Amino acid sequence: MAGRVLVTGGAGYVGSHTTVLLLEAGWDVVVFDDLSNGRALAVARAVELSGRPAEVLRVDVRDRAAVARAVRARGPFDACLHFAAKKSVAESVLDPSGYHATNVGGTIALIEALVDHGTRRVVYSSSATVYGAADGESLGEDAPLAPVNPYGQSKALAERALCDAAVAHGLAIALLRYFNPVGAHPSGRIGEDPRQPGNLLPLVARVALGELPAVEVLGTDWPTPDGTGVRDYVHVMDVARAHLHALTWTEGRAEARAFNIGTGQGASVREVVTEFRRASGRSIPTVDAARRPGDVARLVACPARARSELGFVAEHDLASMVGSVWRWARDNPHGYGDAL
Ligand code: UD1
Repeated sequence: MAGRVLVTGGAGYVGSHTTVLLLEAGWDVVVFDDLSNGRALAVARAVELSGRPAEVLRVDVRDRAAVARAVRARGPFDACLHFAAKKSVAESVLDPSGYHATNVGGTIALIEALVDHGTRRVVYSSSATVYGAADGESLGEDAPLAPVNPYGQSKALAERALCDAAVAHGLAIALLRYFNPVGAHPSGRIGEDPRQPGNLLPLVARVALGELPAVEVLGTDWPTPDGTGVRDYVHVMDVARAHLHALTWTEGRAEARAFNIGTGQGASVREVVTEFRRASGRSIPTVDAARRPGDVARLVACPARARSELGFVAEHDLASMVGSVWRWARDNPHGYGDAL
């Protein structure tokens, strides 16, 4: 049953796609976002796509007093989806304290405000990055958490803080560990900022558009069928839908539980590029390059728990993911441009 939901980071990539589905499902959505990475235009387009309004407040989750004030002013909320976080591995190595302040401190500030104002249901935007360098054949949620960089550490620490709060305050918290979210809304109106540093799909799209000369294939000697890295790419619309399943799961519970959000299928860098050539009709040159430090050969989810306990199964295949990336990139070559 829908109600009033707080979406932190709702102007970001996964947050904005989830906002569309929440609005369509009848939830009244209030977005908190500091707009450091997210764009108000993404929420405006989510509103346009769903045909329902949403409130957006500029709130920095690091500011405890501001978070408490905003939750008091706009609440009470039946549930909260917490996306607001920093997510660049490279940046986290240079600025670990900044990552801990936003990702851990922000989560603690939010939980305090939610507990104080009677919100008991939370869905947390976590990441398979918490498993670290686990070279998973099919990685289950009970695999050890061994993050290998400050970004991963901050996500694991925030999970820990949420689990402890769930016990202390009787909260229901779903920790959604996304594998590699890619793709865009089928309308091509919202998608991932092409300036997102380092991730494969935005880079391939920029090569297809002619903005970059070639895709660097980072490692061609991995122990995988074609020698390139294998990942569990999952369509952002599937990831968004997983949040609605998780919201339903939190109803009437008092526990924290982790769920992998992936397809259970791996795709290699070469397979992704081949699929992108097919979708775009562009040539997309590649150059072989050295392995990137910290990368692993293969990271693929075991999605069994999400299927049996959330009733969630990813539906989109790689062709659908890549097709939607291309539509978004072609129609919005500069992403949201210079709009806020
Ligand atoms: C990265 C992050 C991870 C984060 C995830 C989703 C790192 C080390 N990990 O995962 O913490 O949760 O994004 O945002 O940054 N590749 C190329 N050429 C490129 C870029 C990537 O060949 O120019 C390859 C990589 O080696 C990898 C695959 O493409 O095999 C996917 O890379 P990427 O999109 O960066 O995701 P991850 O490294 O899996």
